Amino acid sequence: MNNIDKIRSEIESFQVDNAETLEQFRLRFLSKKSEIQSLFGEIKNIAQENRKEFGQLVNDLRDMAQENYNRFKAAVEAVSGNNTTEIPDITRPAARLNVGSMHPISIMMNEVRQIFEEIGFSAVEGPDIEDDWHVFTALNFAEEHPARDMQDTFFIKLRPDVLLRTHTSSLQVRTMETQKPPIRVICPGRVFRNEAITSRAHCIFHQVEGLYIAENVSFADMKQTLLYFAQRMFGDDVRIRLRPSYFPFTEPSAEMDISCNICGGAGCNLCKHTGWVEILGCGMVDPNVLENCGIDSGKYSGFAFGLGIERMTMLKYRTNDIRLYFENDVRFLQQFKAATK
Ligand code: PHE
Repeated sequence: MNNIDKIRSEIESFQVDNAETLEQFRLRFLSKKSEIQSLFGEIKNIAQENRKEFGQLVNDLRDMAQENYNRFKAAVEAVSGNNTTEIPDITRPAARLNVGSMHPISIMMNEVRQIFEEIGFSAVEGPDIEDDWHVFTALNFAEEHPARDMQDTFFIKLRPDVLLRTHTSSLQVRTMETQKPPIRVICPGRVFRNEAITSRAHCIFHQVEGLYIAENVSFADMKQTLLYFAQRMFGDDVRIRLRPSYFPFTEPSAEMDISCNICGGAGCNLCKHTGWVEILGCGMVDPNVLENCGIDSGKYSGFAFGLGIERMTMLKYRTNDIRLYFENDVRFLQQFKAATK
């Protein structure tokens, strides 16, 4: 037994760096006259009840020596150019490693983050499981607002005030509660809504929401910021359009469309022949929300927006079924290798 341990540590510490030491290794551990071979000869002298275990250990030792030898041999041959004395061609391109690809949703989230981070927004993250205050009440949702309905929100059974966030606006509340203006944040994250799963909708999706609070922030500031974003994301030719809308936490509110990047505005299936596709909701933060979060609405104003990442990814990569993003089919995911940074 001691011998086995000794030989094992000799194998482990044996340095092979050229053809000569490789041969020494072979003679010492793998030849007919090696110590390992003589251990095989010993097996018959071992007491019957220990024989099987001893035999196994010697076998393992021989396998280990053989594996190390194979590895050393490959390395020595690689360096010496298959046993010739030629100098290896160091300009030859390296063998390509088969690396994975990033998920398209992560690619898009990072891209959105980068665009906003470059103009001074910083990203904040927070819990998927939230309370009623941060998702609804602080955001000025009336007590009987339909979004609180069981139809839309996943509640945690035992605690009706605990729920899965339906938007990352909850992080805007958390930020306003803890930071003083000026505030410039984006809130990327996963959100949950109790919706039927179809090619266009899913019960889980991702958002990046944004918030800017300072003195004298105007609707024009918001429009310019969002136009800048759309052009960075979809190219300088893209046009935007704001349609009046309603959200409890913004006043006035709008939805923003971009000119359809598939038909260029002429009309196709994706834009339902309108030439426009909606990508985000936005508006000026309602003074009630500022006050709920301890910010003086007489002094400060701001804008907020929230965009759906799946929708944008479908537009950018021209995929027509949102479910593809959640099925983890490698044939789909591998197509994003080129976009993986
Ligand atoms: N929170 C809204 C949603 O999830 C989006 C939004 C954010 C709208 C900020 C306006 C301002 O649909």
